[in-house]
Amino acid sequence: MTDRDHGAEEAAARALADGKLILLPTETVYGLGADASNAKAVAAIFEAKGRPRFNPLISHVADAAGAERIALFDDHARKLAEAFWPGPLTLVAPVRDRQAVCDLARAGLDSVAVRVPGHARAREVLDLFGGAVVAPSANRSGRPSPTTFQDAMDETGFAAAEGVDGGPCAVGVESTVVSVLGGKVSLLRPGSVTREELEAVVGPLDAGGEGHRSPGRLTLHYAPDAPVRINVTSLHKGELLLGFGPGVGDARWSLSPTGDLREAAANLFRRLREADREKPAGIAVSPIPKAGLGEAINDRLSRAAGHIG
Ligand code: TXA
Ligand code: MG
Repeated sequence: MTDRDHGAEEAAARALADGKLILLPTETVYGLGADASNAKAVAAIFEAKGRPRFNPLISHVADAAGAERIALFDDHARKLAEAFWPGPLTLVAPVRDRQAVCDLARAGLDSVAVRVPGHARAREVLDLFGGAVVAPSANRSGRPSPTTFQDAMDETGFAAAEGVDGGPCAVGVESTVVSVLGGKVSLLRPGSVTREELEAVVGPLDAGGEGHRSPGRLTLHYAPDAPVRINVTSLHKGELLLGFGPGVGDARWSLSPTGDLREAAANLFRRLREADREKPAGIAVSPIPKAGLGEAINDRLSRAAGHIG
């Protein structure tokens, strides 16, 4: 612990205990948080985001022991938790404690999504609060996720009693969501923990489970107001180009002038928001490699472009 003032974390933890909502910084994106056991507070999250109630939330906890209090972990789950927590991985496992994470937070499912965030200030809030905190991305439903405190304030700040400004999010795309159910491991949402990294820990992933996906992936997502075209090599009139790699488009708008996937992920939602503010006829995005972190970037971009699936 540093001698930094912990007032914001303490105020956030108190607000959670009082049944209020908070803006929670994480390494991926900002979340809109509430006490997972408080159905009224959880309902306020769905209301503020305009989120359909069939779409369950992720429970955030301070450490792996906290995760095992609410979820039943098998060997695969333990190995993954050990390898990637704290960090941008969410595990969907059978629910153990249905009170600690209320029905509405789980959308009535028998499974629960849990994660230990990599951001130290998020873990401090969780530690001070003591229970599980559900936190979807702090955007209104269907909009790009916020990766700065200001963007989070602009999206759902009206609904939050407290907030912790943890700076710009280092990762920039939401956590990788993996289900560990019935002895099988499947990728439900690609993220910055890559398929390759998961397979190095648990072996080949179960492709069958991907059909099941996450309920939240049935809806249009991440879309700015301007229409988005991806894999673009020639521009239409009035389009603003988000480039990738050396010499592609205006460097001011590039996702990564050097062609670095981590940098592109960190810039992705911020650039989409900034581009949108220019009110272009459309937003065009250069081709981005599909391997590694490129899987998550292409996933978010194809949703922003309206390809649901
Ligand atoms: O990085 C992140 O995960 C961020 C930060 C704030 O932690 N949170 C986030 O939450 O992205 P949200 O609500 O935007 O996305 C949660 C995803 C949704 O696609 C949801 O359907 C899925 O997780 N999910 C939650 N519980 C699930 C369950 N029991 N089974 C399958 N999918 C589940
Ligand atoms: Mg979201």
